[in-house]
Amino acid sequence: MGEGSSSPEQPGVKRSQRPVRSYALRKGRLTKGQRRALDQLLPRYGLPEGPDPLDWRAIFGRQAPLAMEIGVGGGEALRGLARRYPEWNWVGVDVYPPGIGRLLLALEAEPQPNVRVALTDAVALLAERVPQRSLDAVYIFFPDPWPKARHHKRRLIQQPFLDLLAQRMRPKGELFLATDWEEYARWMVAALEDHPAFVNAHEPGAFAPRCPDRPLTKFEGRGAEQGHEVFDLRYRRT
Ligand SMILES: C[S@@+](CC[C@H](N)C(=O)[O-])C[C@H]1O[C@@H](n2cnc3c(N)ncnc32)[C@H](O)[C@@H]1O
Repeated sequence: MGEGSSSPEQPGVKRSQRPVRSYALRKGRLTKGQRRALDQLLPRYGLPEGPDPLDWRAIFGRQAPLAMEIGVGGGEALRGLARRYPEWNWVGVDVYPPGIGRLLLALEAEPQPNVRVALTDAVALLAERVPQRSLDAVYIFFPDPWPKARHHKRRLIQQPFLDLLAQRMRPKGELFLATDWEEYARWMVAALEDHPAFVNAHEPGAFAPRCPDRPLTKFEGRGAEQGHEVFDLRYRRT
């Protein structure tokens, strides 16, 4: 299909006009429980439809430092972090319904009042709904590496996204990243070192020690079985 032809996902929208997404649209199969969780629990744990920009204090019912995890998968890391730092408010974002369904089921089994969940594209959420300078920390563990050169434009960590994050993060806010794709790890370091709003929390150009709060997720476990090394990065919003 040519660049100018219409897309099957968005009929009438030319491929060349579609925003570049950092994720592949996969529906995945929802279990009955996950479907119920999305129907019944998303209204409780999800973000309200409006007004925008979001009022975090009203959403959580308290004023507290705010952290966002982007690409939560099934939410193992988010739940661990939120348990470990109950004095923080936590928002987990992903586009993948079965993952968010799993996270909601886990929250039903073990309620965590300092957690909210968004089933949406984090780029749109940040651009359209998140107030400026409202995030004290951002976590992005194992973002899709898009290894083929022709897909590099879909990588989340690049200048336009970092510009957006820089606007939404508070000065001195922290950005934690991890990947098991070495070339993407170096790409991320280059992008962040280049960005005037971020400074390496360790040495310029250096990877960070393993983030102590990062649990071993299913995804990382699978990579480790294949001998993939994991690279952590830690940057500070200037
Ligand atoms: C490789 S998985 C890693 C999941 C999890 N962090 C882990 O370590 O197991 C990447 C996740 O990022 C999500 N993702 C990619 N782009 C996204 C975006 N723009 N907004 C929200 N989620 C996104 C994908 O749906 C997927 O669940």
